[in-house]
Amino acid sequence: MASIKSGFRPDQIIFTGPGKTQKELSFAVKQEISLIVVESVNEARRLNTVAEQTGITQNILVRVNPLYRTSYSCEVQQGGNNCNIETEPNAPVQLISTNASKFGIDEQNVSEALKEIVSLPHINLKGIHIFTESNVLDYQQLVASCQNTINIANKLKSQGYPISIVDFGGGMGVPYNNVDLAFDIQAFGQQMQSISEQNPYQYQYIFELGRYLVCESGSYVAEIVDIKTSQGKKFFILDGGVHHLLRTSMKRANKFMDVIGKEKQNTEKVTLAGKLPTPLDVMVEDVEVPTNTEIGDRIVIYNCGAYGFNHSVTNFALHNYPAEVAYSDGEIDIIREPGKIEDFFLNQQFPSVKNLEKVLALSVDT
Ligand SMILES: Cc1ncc(COP(=O)(O)O)c(C=O)c1O
Repeated sequence: MASIKSGFRPDQIIFTGPGKTQKELSFAVKQEISLIVVESVNEARRLNTVAEQTGITQNILVRVNPLYRTSYSCEVQQGGNNCNIETEPNAPVQLISTNASKFGIDEQNVSEALKEIVSLPHINLKGIHIFTESNVLDYQQLVASCQNTINIANKLKSQGYPISIVDFGGGMGVPYNNVDLAFDIQAFGQQMQSISEQNPYQYQYIFELGRYLVCESGSYVAEIVDIKTSQGKKFFILDGGVHHLLRTSMKRANKFMDVIGKEKQNTEKVTLAGKLPTPLDVMVEDVEVPTNTEIGDRIVIYNCGAYGFNHSVTNFALHNYPAEVAYSDGEIDIIREPGKIEDFFLNQQFPSVKNLEKVLALSVDT
């Protein structure tokens, strides 16, 4: 729906992700979007039924949970370790992952699963989708991952499955500090081209760029409303928090920040915490800030254009969501007004409150 609202044509849209409901599948099929990525045999069966009811044959990709991941998968680099993969400084390019995953069909089972999927008459297998790497800065790591995906596609193709599209998901990273090198998109493109030219089969390749396109275009700004010390540790409490910017899996990224208008000549380490009543709401620990920072100053965290607002726990404790401001061609526009307290009561009803007096009267009587 968001893509259509933003002006993309249905034939430019791919629907991915686990847990697609009947309503969502039906909407996507009726819109005649180009591809739906199925995440399991059950989802393929459900989609087949929906497509039959709509009178359409829907083109699909099948998502595969591969055996191999690179050592830099899943934001491991940024301090999170969502994949539970051991990371060593000199780790080989690819590691075997024994991870169970909610995403896709296990590589070991995919050939068997495709037997049934290709027999379903209202869906049409076009290829595979594998997305395990995010925020990879070393282009060779991503090349290795893509090569692994192509190998899986080749194997399925040689077994007779009609694979013509290979979707690599996202993965291209952006540096969250001043020292890491940017992803070398040119070298990546050249290597991918050479892999494609040497591959025994020709495919249409798809990348679903997310972070790489938009991350560096956004920053998060919040005011410091309190400064305090607890057990020798200094805290800046912000008029913000993880309801605005949740990056708990990559807290180190939040260190890419400044205090607006203050030079970093003399610095000290502080913890940036938000206003939510939960210990989860710590944005980053041990960040260097100027010693002359005061209440009322504003901090800016860079590279929040991806995985910012939409990635956050926006309704937590009913604290307002942030305004969003766009800057383009010298013009500044508010593209989202800051949240208001009334927003939390939209679509909410209080039948018991309406009857409260009656209920209270009853309980006094009994
Ligand atoms: C299916 C899919 N494709 C692409 C992306 C974008 O990934 P990245 O930010 O690594 O470019 C995501 C992000 O969650 C995704 O779920």
